[in-house]
Amino acid sequence: MENPAKKLRNKIICVFGRRGSGKSFLVRNVVLERLHGRRIVYDPMKEYSGKGAIATSLPDFFDLLEAQERHIVFQSDKDSNFDEVCRVIYESQSNIWLVCDEIDMFCKATETPEWLLKITRYGRHKGIGLVVIARRPAAIPREITSQATYIVSFRQHEPRDIKYLSEFMPAEKLPEIGQYQYLMYCSDTGEITNKINF
Ligand SMILES: Nc1ncnc2c1ncn2[C@@H]1O[C@H](COP(=O)(O)OP(=O)(O)OP(=O)(O)O)[C@@H](O)[C@H]1O
Ligand SMILES: [Mg+2]
Repeated sequence: MENPAKKLRNKIICVFGRRGSGKSFLVRNVVLERLHGRRIVYDPMKEYSGKGAIATSLPDFFDLLEAQERHIVFQSDKDSNFDEVCRVIYESQSNIWLVCDEIDMFCKATETPEWLLKITRYGRHKGIGLVVIARRPAAIPREITSQATYIVSFRQHEPRDIKYLSEFMPAEKLPEIGQYQYLMYCSDTGEITNKINF
């Protein structure tokens, strides 16, 4: 039987939920393990230590890339570093995942940094996959959610967010999701599950 993990390339995965709902925990402990190939985690809150070689500045990051480190964790909350990391990944890397926790620190619903937009639109052709984590779906660029293969949501209360997510999953269930539980929608199959199954 084909290993399903092998198929998980070049996708966009979004993870949403209120503060403390378990997004970073889920990505750190489950999602990262399912990503096939190399990965870079952009980690502004310094929660991914142990998940790769740590960079805290652009020169560190370039050194680790050049050394072909398989897993890199960039711990910085600077906008300028974020866009530069996106640029370098887009221009020089392939078969790699970019995982961005707290993505709403670096973009708004109506404003996407140039190189993040390029990765979102054209990353598939270069084998670049993207995982984004944010509290509110309505706070991140529509372009990202519209291209996502997997949308994960923990409990939601805010009507605008529920309305937004109701395009993907049953709105009435979103406020009722239990602690550390979530729903996941897959746009390839239309399936909704309560476990990560990729
Ligand atoms: N499945 C789980 N089982 C047990 N504890 C969990 C689980 N998920 C999260 N937690 C705990 O709950 C707390 C909040 O989780 P986490 O940091 O992942 O939330 P978050 O959604 O990323 O929050 P924020 O939006 O503030 O970044 C952490 O202390 C974490 O260890
Ligand atoms: Mg978090």
